[in-house]
Amino acid sequence: MNLAFYVHIPYCIKRCGYCDFNTYTPSELQITTGLKSITNSYTNLLIAEIKSARKQLGDQSTVPSIFFGGGTPSLMEASDIESIITAIGSEFDLASDVEITLESNPDTVDREKLENFYNAGVNRISFGMQSAVPHVLATLDRTHNPDNLYQVTQWASDVGFKEISVDLIYGTPGESKADWQKTIDTALSLPITHISAYALIIEEGTKLAAQIKRGEVGPVDDDLTAEKYIMADNAFTKFGFDWYELSNWSKPNSESKHNLAYWLGHNWWGAGPGAHSHINGKRFWNVKHPNLYKQKIDAGEAPVADSEDLQESQIESERLMLSIRLPSGVEKSTLNEKQILDLSGYVKSGHLDEGNWDNGRAALTLEGRLIADRIVREILL
Ligand SMILES: C[S@@+](CC[C@H](N)C(=O)[O-])C[C@H]1O[C@@H](n2cnc3c(N)ncnc32)[C@H](O)[C@@H]1O
Ligand code: SF4
Repeated sequence: MNLAFYVHIPYCIKRCGYCDFNTYTPSELQITTGLKSITNSYTNLLIAEIKSARKQLGDQSTVPSIFFGGGTPSLMEASDIESIITAIGSEFDLASDVEITLESNPDTVDREKLENFYNAGVNRISFGMQSAVPHVLATLDRTHNPDNLYQVTQWASDVGFKEISVDLIYGTPGESKADWQKTIDTALSLPITHISAYALIIEEGTKLAAQIKRGEVGPVDDDLTAEKYIMADNAFTKFGFDWYELSNWSKPNSESKHNLAYWLGHNWWGAGPGAHSHINGKRFWNVKHPNLYKQKIDAGEAPVADSEDLQESQIESERLMLSIRLPSGVEKSTLNEKQILDLSGYVKSGHLDEGNWDNGRAALTLEGRLIADRIVREILL
């Protein structure tokens, strides 16, 4: 079977105000010796989990993609990343065209580090750009200088990376349309092949959510955010980046295989604290805190917190939810009568493409992409 690998690196130098990912700063972990001391020993824990994955799965699966996500994977030493790739390659078969992505914060890499990651086997790099506008980055509580993006993407290209992506966030309070246009134009001037653009989610419990509650930062304007999605799609398409998932655009053949594996419901193993796995209709996830994760691995126990066997109906709902987000949409023959009736209203209103509908598929138009969540909620009632 094919098995995509997600490797979670749960460390950041500082927590950004909007982020509620499972990541920890040195002060949260009460580390005074710097992150390097823990990231090295963390590698051995990941390798132990990879070996135990092989034992549990038994067969020699083929790995089409590995994704180092975070947190901040670019804080790791390239030699550690190489050891993890080697461990996956010795327990499983790496596909000959394996895609190996590493998420990177622009201010944690230089040319040499990027070259070392490339030589370690990483062949796709994704930079957390977020915005090109200083006041937007300040509201997001990001630490990097936006001008660094020119430098790091050029270095990545110079050292050999052919697949370079940036992550953008739109809809930050105080971000004008001109600000967002500047971010779009800047991203499109970089030597990149892929863009992920996410609408800012205000996550409960984050510093940004508290600032909005206290009135120190303005609220999110949903209508403006929708307009920004259209601005992005128009500009990206004009420059040859086509959407292949609601929040993802790429040059031809530069779609992320790893992302597609999630969206197409394939099998994946998530290694590291809090990482989720999905194997043949069973889902399981690891304990969240790195210290507990270490305790479990050191004791020779599985680091799993809990698991669930997906019911047929859950698998079906997930398939619908994920595939409607793709340009190919959902095959009408897999829908029930009520769903077809509900969706035919969205064809009339222009949210689903009429030509595709007539050819047996429910596929979103640009207008429909703006309300994809609402459409899915309605048909899953
Ligand atoms: C969790 S980060 C990991 C990579 C790296 N640390 C970084 O910040 O770029 C991956 C991406 O998730 C997105 N993200 C995180 N929190 C978000 C939020 N609350 N709303 C929208 N996007 C978010 C950001 O665009 C970020 O680049
Ligand atoms: S650097 Fe990335 S993972 Fe870390 S806190 Fe910021 S957004 Fe979250």
